[in-house]
Amino acid sequence: MVKIAPSILSADFANLAQEIRRIETADYVHVDVMDGAFVPNITVGLPVVRCLRPVTRMPLDVHLMVDRPIRYVEQFCDAGADIVTVHVEADTPENTALALEKIHAKGKRAGVVLRPKTPAEAARPYLKACDMILVMTVEPGFGGQKFMADMMPKLRTLRDWIDQENPACELEVDGGVDPVTAKVVIENGANVLVAGSAVYGAADIPSRIAELRG
Ligand code: DX5
Ligand code: ZN
Repeated sequence: MVKIAPSILSADFANLAQEIRRIETADYVHVDVMDGAFVPNITVGLPVVRCLRPVTRMPLDVHLMVDRPIRYVEQFCDAGADIVTVHVEADTPENTALALEKIHAKGKRAGVVLRPKTPAEAARPYLKACDMILVMTVEPGFGGQKFMADMMPKLRTLRDWIDQENPACELEVDGGVDPVTAKVVIENGANVLVAGSAVYGAADIPSRIAELRG
């Protein structure tokens, strides 16, 4: 079944506990961590994950858009993250592999993320060590951008490799997902859909979540 991971980047940060209750029919809470260096924006970090942990039983899906995330992955696990994903562009291949190991050593799920310009091949060395691969369908940094349909061949390639090499691995898509583009990413093999503006901008959030699932 398709899972929905609303991004709290589009929520009201002054009322996060309440904003998470509004998405309780979804599957994961997607938390976008940005450092102002890997991406040109700054969002939230460890203290926010720590505060969210006791207010929800939903898994926290933490997307790290930070340089050299290996420095922080264990702290995000300790703060309460259930899934931690790191960008392959943010460090050396050795450190990316080591970051995945550190997340697993904490008993959490680990994954790698690909920016739009990064080819599917960049994820392949980590495929067997990943619980999730995240394909960006916008340039990371901001919510509310236009969906990049030209990422679909990459998504399809990753779906084929996952089916062959590690079928338990989830394939997540992030950026510009709405009821129309959701159908396209599902057709191309995604099973976890991140959606920020399409969820928090909806008049009726539970029915929007159901609509995105297809
Ligand atoms: C962008 C973030 C996304 C963002 C998606 O860098 O990783 O998670 O919140 O927002 P929408 O769904 O509005 O494109
Ligand atoms: Zn994200």
